[in-house]
Amino acid sequence: MSTTVETATTARNVLVTGGNRGIGLAIARAFAEAGDDVVITHRSGEPPEGLKGVTCEVTESASVDAAFKAAEEIFGGPVEVLVANAGITRDTLLMRMTDEEFDSVIDTNLAGAFRCARRAATGMIRKRKGRIVLISSVVGLYGSPGQTNYAASKAGLVGLARSISREIGGRGITANVVAPGFIDTEMTAVLPEDQKKQYLSNIPAGRFATPEEVASVVRFVASDDAAYITGAVIPVDGGLGMGH
Ligand SMILES: NC(=O)c1ccc[n+]([C@@H]2O[C@H](COP(=O)([O-])OP(=O)(O)OC[C@H]3O[C@@H](n4cnc5c(N)ncnc54)[C@H](OP(=O)(O)O)[C@@H]3O)[C@@H](O)[C@H]2O)c1
Repeated sequence: MSTTVETATTARNVLVTGGNRGIGLAIARAFAEAGDDVVITHRSGEPPEGLKGVTCEVTESASVDAAFKAAEEIFGGPVEVLVANAGITRDTLLMRMTDEEFDSVIDTNLAGAFRCARRAATGMIRKRKGRIVLISSVVGLYGSPGQTNYAASKAGLVGLARSISREIGGRGITANVVAPGFIDTEMTAVLPEDQKKQYLSNIPAGRFATPEEVASVVRFVASDDAAYITGAVIPVDGGLGMGH
């Protein structure tokens, strides 16, 4: 009896955008394994085995709103932990980058996180409790040739989280940025081998990370133990971005 009550009071309603694969999936599984109620967003197909999913296109406010409504119905209450993870790359050199390549990355990675955070804040303010975790990247503050659009979008998340912290930090809500370095996922699988070798030579840890290593840090910043951490940028990059 007491175990049931404990689980019911500690389980939170966790929404992970882009949780159907890669880092988002590892984050969703980590929360679920810890006993939280988890819903992931996906754009097509079925949610991964064992997880509940709602469809969401983060570049469209109406889709974000519908996804939150559907998730709230599944939870039977508001989203208490938002992990804004959905993201894309459209890499090319500055001189070759089209407006469309720049805009689409900003619209997905930065404006998409803004749309989700704005929608999540409504329920969190009412509950006077919430955790917003934005998945950025080491290159947001470090910079990266061929990634002006991506780095700008990921740096923007820092201003977004810090402004959210200043606006609603007094209501029991934290907003933090987790900045992964190179993680073994489909996003990095497409990198040329010589580029991977060059990156590895600059990573003090001497290896890429697993998605699970990012997930455990996200879980920590979303925990009660991290109640006094807000507006922070937490690197999970094997030392690659030290000092940035
Ligand atoms: N992998 C790395 O080394 C690395 C390093 C630093 C930061 N990150 C960041 O970590 C996050 C996850 O990366 P990942 O490597 O796991 O990427 P991934 O395997 O490519 O997965 C990206 C996820 O985002 C979703 N997504 C993309 N555009 C979307 C949109 N417009 N609306 C809704 N969902 C959308 C994808 O959905 P679909 O399946 O429908 O495409 C997918 O679920 C990203 O924000 C990325 O920038 C990754």
